[in-house]
Amino acid sequence: MNYQETYHSYLKQAEDVLQQVCDEYLPESSQVCKAARYSLLGGGKRVRAVLTMAACDLLNGDMQAAAWFAAAIEMVHCYSLIHDDLPCMDDDDFRRGKPSCHKAFSESTAMLAGDALLTTAFQVLANAPTSHQQRVEAIQELSAAAGAKGMILGQELDLYHEAVPASAGQLMQVHRNKTGALINGAVQLGGIAAQCSSSTADMLRQYAYDIGLVFQIVDDVLDVVATTDQLGKPVGSDQENNKTTFVTLYGTNGALEHAQAINQRACHLLRTEFGEKSAFLEEFAVRLLVRNN
Ligand code: IPE
Ligand code: IPE
Ligand code: MG
Ligand code: MG
Ligand code: MG
Repeated sequence: MNYQETYHSYLKQAEDVLQQVCDEYLPESSQVCKAARYSLLGGGKRVRAVLTMAACDLLNGDMQAAAWFAAAIEMVHCYSLIHDDLPCMDDDDFRRGKPSCHKAFSESTAMLAGDALLTTAFQVLANAPTSHQQRVEAIQELSAAAGAKGMILGQELDLYHEAVPASAGQLMQVHRNKTGALINGAVQLGGIAAQCSSSTADMLRQYAYDIGLVFQIVDDVLDVVATTDQLGKPVGSDQENNKTTFVTLYGTNGALEHAQAINQRACHLLRTEFGEKSAFLEEFAVRLLVRNN
């Protein structure tokens, strides 16, 4: 397995569909769609899209269906970032190396652009080039991941704990929902594109929630140790908003040690189940841990 080649091939397949669905569903004649496209296209690491593609490939699934699913999950993720940056939430003025959506446009336009991305994502799933059964399963999975018992709950708890400090257990709950749920959704969509069994889906869920936790721990650490140039978003945002994070609980080194242990558990699980075929997802997990952006 050549990691870089595989990574770029996953990315290209997902980006091609993302461009295609934008052209179809988000016409530039509308200011709201312009704002949605501004935030969605030409930025972001596309971690969730790559996870969908990689999970599907691991299980020898239908990569064209996966690319549509990947586009949908990136739309939901992007909506969550637009709303996360609003003054009533984290109040951050930069995202993906440029002014946040509400700064480049207006608050009301940014709010509607987020709404448009969320709704259109489900239209993309409903029209994905695959079986009715798989489309419905994908809609179930993504709505559960993004909804009131998933990412929204995580965002609700995250804001609640600005005023009320979180314990370690409560912080795990915040991270599991605000970040883990969508990362798991991404992996599960790959599984659906491959029509995987429920036992395989369970195993992938463990991997996904582990790397989701690692991902958010590293996000918390980078908020303290990185530069705005590296991240393309403001650093110090968590402290400014009085958030409890893994860094406030364990310090930078403690948080990273925690992340390392979880990462090893995730990789070990995958290797035991899939052997050499899991090489890409293992390497991907390691790169999420050592990333600097
Ligand atoms: C940022 O996600 C929000 C978190 C869940 C930590 P990403 O770090 O994946 O953001 P982009 O897509 O690369 O901009
Ligand atoms: C955001 O978490 C998670 C979601 C958008 C669901 P953060 O608030 O930590 O993300 P950043 O640091 O602004 O990217
Ligand atoms: Mg936030
Ligand atoms: Mg934020
Ligand atoms: Mg953050």
